[in-house]
Amino acid sequence: MRNTLLAGAFMLLASQTTLAQKFEGLAQTPPMGWNSWNKFACDINEELIRGIADEIVESGLRDAGYVYINLDDCWHGERDENGFITADSIRFPSGMGALADYIHSKGLKFGIYSDAGRKTCGGRPGSFGHEYQDALQYARWGVDYLKYDWCETENINPVGAYTLMRDAIREAGRPILFSMCEWGHSKPWEWAAETGHMWRTTGDIYNCFDCVDEHPGWKAFGVLQILDMQDGLRKYAGPGHWNDPDMLEVGNGQSENQDRAHFTMWSMLAAPLILGNDIRDMSSETKAILMNPDVIAIDQDSLGVQGLKYKSENGLEFWFKPLVNDEWAFCVLNRTQQPLEYEIDWQDFNLTDEEVSQRSTGFDQRVYAIRDLWKNKKEGTTKKNKKITIPGQDVVLYRLSPINK
Ligand code: GLA
Repeated sequence: MRNTLLAGAFMLLASQTTLAQKFEGLAQTPPMGWNSWNKFACDINEELIRGIADEIVESGLRDAGYVYINLDDCWHGERDENGFITADSIRFPSGMGALADYIHSKGLKFGIYSDAGRKTCGGRPGSFGHEYQDALQYARWGVDYLKYDWCETENINPVGAYTLMRDAIREAGRPILFSMCEWGHSKPWEWAAETGHMWRTTGDIYNCFDCVDEHPGWKAFGVLQILDMQDGLRKYAGPGHWNDPDMLEVGNGQSENQDRAHFTMWSMLAAPLILGNDIRDMSSETKAILMNPDVIAIDQDSLGVQGLKYKSENGLEFWFKPLVNDEWAFCVLNRTQQPLEYEIDWQDFNLTDEEVSQRSTGFDQRVYAIRDLWKNKKEGTTKKNKKITIPGQDVVLYRLSPINK
C-alpha cells in the first residue's frame, strides 16, 4: 500500500515535471535584437521605443535578423491593488499592450525585463512573490521575451527562482523566450539548459575594449575581459540554450577596429546578438559591421556550436568555429594595439574538436577555399601558406569551404 502510494506520488511529481518545461523552439539559433540598457539605461519612454522599432525596420536591421525590441530596467510603475505590475504611466502613457501591438505590427517581437528579487537593479518592483502574476501580465500584454535579473536576491536560491519563473511562464501559456541574467554566479551553464534559452556568463559589459571598471562590491568588464571569461563554457551551449556574454557595445564609441573585433568574437562565440546602441543615429561604419550578412551567418549557423580558441601566441589568438556542411569559420584576433604580421601555415592547425562537434579541420587531407568576410573577397585556398596583417585590436575572419574533388 505504502509503495503504491509512493509510486503514485512519484508519478504525479514526474508528470508535473514534464508539464513544466520551458517553451522549446524559441532560440534554435542565438537570439538577435535590440535592448535599451547599454545606451539609454533608465531614460526610456514609449516615443523612444517606437522610434527604435521604426528604425530597426527602415535601416534593414530587422531583415538582417534583429527582431526583438527589448525594454530593460525602469519601464515599471507600481503594482495595482491586486498586485499586478503596471507600466510607468508618465513614460509609457499608452501602456505595454499598445506598445507590444505597435512592435508586432512591424513584424518585430517585444521583450521586457524583471528581476527575481524584491526590487530590480534600478529599484523598481521585482517579481519576488509575484512570479505567476507577472508572467500572466506579460502574456496578456503580448510579451515574447523576458530578461530576468538578479538584484536584491539575498537568501534566494537561483535554481529555485529561475525554475519558478520558467514554470510561471509555461503556466501563463504564451511562448516567451527566457533570458537569465544572474551574472554566472551559480554557474547556470551547468543547470539551466532546461530552464532558460540563454544565461549571462559574467557581470555587465563596460563600454571599453580592454579594461575593467571597478566599483566597491562589483565590476564591469571590457570586451576582451568578457571574452576571456568564456573559457571552458563552450560545451554547455547549443540550439535552444546559449551562453550570453552580454549585450553589444558596437556603435557606442569604440573605434571601428574594436567594434569589428567585438562583433566578430561574439559571432565566433555563437552569442546572442543584442544591439545596445542608438540605431536611429548610426554611422555607416557601425551599420556595415552590424549588418554584415556573412558574419551574422557565422553566429547564426544552424550547427549551433560555439567557437574554440585553439591557441594564443604573442598577442594573437586563433579561433575556429565548426559550421554546417563541413565548413569552418577561422578568426585571428589581435589583442594588442599594434598591427601584427603572421604567416598562416595551415598544417599548424590540424585539429579535432573533441569537446563538442568531433569535427576535424584536416588541412592535411583536404583543401578549403578561403573567403575574407570583412573584405568580402575570395582569398585563394589553404593549399599554401598565407601572410596576413592584423590591425591593432582587430581581426581577420575567414570562412573556409572544402573544395570537393
Ligand atoms: C543589471 C544587468 C544589466 C541591466 C541592469 C539594469 O546590472 O546585468 O544588464 O539589466 O541590471 O538595472
